[in-house]
Amino acid sequence: MSATIIDGKRIAAEVRAEAREKCLALLNETGVQARIVFVLVGESAASQVYVRNKGIAAEEAGFSHETLRFPATISEEELIDVVRSVNADNKTHGLLVQLPLPKHIREARIIEAIDPAKDIDGLHPVNAGHLATATGHYFAPCTPSGVVEMLYREKIEVQGKHVVIVGRSNLVGKPLAMLLVQKTPKTNAIVTLAHTGAGIRLKEFTLHADILVAAMGAPRAITADMVKPGAVVIDVGMNRIADTSTKSGTKLVGDVDYELVSEVASAITPVPGGVGPMTIAMLLMNTVEAARRSL
Ligand code: GUN
Repeated sequence: MSATIIDGKRIAAEVRAEAREKCLALLNETGVQARIVFVLVGESAASQVYVRNKGIAAEEAGFSHETLRFPATISEEELIDVVRSVNADNKTHGLLVQLPLPKHIREARIIEAIDPAKDIDGLHPVNAGHLATATGHYFAPCTPSGVVEMLYREKIEVQGKHVVIVGRSNLVGKPLAMLLVQKTPKTNAIVTLAHTGAGIRLKEFTLHADILVAAMGAPRAITADMVKPGAVVIDVGMNRIADTSTKSGTKLVGDVDYELVSEVASAITPVPGGVGPMTIAMLLMNTVEAARRSL
């Protein structure tokens, strides 16, 4: 058996087109153009690429956007001042501070400085709390909401299914578990939140998954023997590994051993071209929502 490949690029293009329509409708109705500010600290090549791609997507969808760049030597206090000045700018509706930040800056302090109403990444504790309690207005982090949206648009039933997530990060694993247990038609799953603490027992948990989500940040760690035949496999991993056969000498791989797991799974997301593009699409959706709510 060979798995259906879930085309994240195509699904994300659909969502981006819808975000563009919402952005233009808002502009026509109210004269307000949704605006995002990206904050990029340091010289990480990966972060530069991610922020550049987010800017291109924002541009194509008709959003106003700007990237503020700072050297890795910026202090925590200086960066908090930057966040506060964006918070105070009523023309800006969404603020994204690209992670990771340099070691001397405590990420939690920066995230807590972001106005929760502009926190389109959904990382502020107020948004995380509202997500956990499913109350009030909140923003869900973009990668987890991208996974939910992708499953929905691919017509993969989630209700009543056993989803096993491997990885407990605040960016993906934990918020995805919170989304998937919500009682909505797109979710309502039975969720197991597994992680590397399972050690060699990890397979005991992953083998029970109807839908397996790999988000632990370990290259090709999910092997075919860990996957139940016919399961849906969603790979959130983005790992750059050495590969002498490529021009750059490196290659991007997921957390799933794609070649062999494809033989066991019924459907699988590739890396790149799977979950990654969904993250950007959901960011645009959150931003247009932030702009609407600001009125
Ligand atoms: N770094 C990797 N993924 C993300 C993301 O979704 N948001 C932010 N702010 N930083 C990231």
